[in-house]
Amino acid sequence: MEENIKQLTDTTLANIAACDTGAQLNDIRIGILGKSGALTALLKSMKDIPPEKRPEVGKIVNVARERLEAAIADRQAVIEQQELDRRLQSEKIDISIDVPTPCAGGYHPLTLIRNRIVDFFSSLSFVVDEGPEIETDYYNFEALNIPADHPAREMQDTFFVTDKFLLRSQTSAGQIRMMEKVKPPIKMISPGRVFRADEADATHSPVFHQVEGLVVDKGITMCDLKGILDLFAKKFFNENTQTRFRPSYFPFTEPSVEVDASCSQCGGKGCRVCKGTGWIEILGAGMVNRNVLKNCDIDPDIYTGYAFGVGLDRITNIIYGINNLRTVYENDIRFLKQFN
Ligand code: PHE
Repeated sequence: MEENIKQLTDTTLANIAACDTGAQLNDIRIGILGKSGALTALLKSMKDIPPEKRPEVGKIVNVARERLEAAIADRQAVIEQQELDRRLQSEKIDISIDVPTPCAGGYHPLTLIRNRIVDFFSSLSFVVDEGPEIETDYYNFEALNIPADHPAREMQDTFFVTDKFLLRSQTSAGQIRMMEKVKPPIKMISPGRVFRADEADATHSPVFHQVEGLVVDKGITMCDLKGILDLFAKKFFNENTQTRFRPSYFPFTEPSVEVDASCSQCGGKGCRVCKGTGWIEILGAGMVNRNVLKNCDIDPDIYTGYAFGVGLDRITNIIYGINNLRTVYENDIRFLKQFN
């Protein structure tokens, strides 16, 4: 009996030492210590042993059981540690690999100039009011003195969404919205995107940007318009910049002008940038047409006003010396990086 127990213990200890999964170890435990395990069977056969020998044999069995239980627990701990190590190894994340450093974002050149224009006019107490990009025919045309059959509609090839709704072709729509909301004195700018069915090329894009300006009060004259635009040009190009008005036509202003700034590149002598003329066109403007004031319930015998529409893309191109409008819209990171 004693010999049996010793042999059983030794082989089992060897098996425990050799096993390397939790499942195997569990099988060994059940095989020896389980209900019908080998050691349990030995204990059951105690009844065949003479009573005087039982305590001694019982002790041997118990010692053997304790040794086996301890060996199983130790092995269990080792196997668990091994399994953990294996998992840590296989799931390890290599944090040493080089990743490209994300570059800090910056403002788009159009946004930079737009913000400067907004700051400039805000400092002169103009309020900023951005109208909707989807407009009604009424705000974009009708109320601006451009009825449905008016040939001036041809000046702007418009994207219509439905018969009544369109993508605004000019920020001038914002003038009407403002004059409906607020009665004079009015001093506002309306920056935003405008849309025209133009083919994209070096100087055209179906989406571009304008900043509309509107001032309505008693006694506003063309001198006020000239003064503010001159200040604007000196601020945005340089202090020697001159402005000139050329007669033009817009249905919503009378008289209407196109405004040129002396070329900041050559100072007006004539160069490649100004195509030898010494001047660069920067915006359209004029005195608000009486009909437009009337459409907004403002009495044109009491109030007068001026309006202007700056091409933001044009100003940006002049300031940064960009000669192809497409560069501004392609968003090539190498181009954009230069502005930060
Ligand atoms: N809305 C005109 C355009 O898009 C510009 C303009 C605005 C002209 C205000 C006069 C007054 O061409």
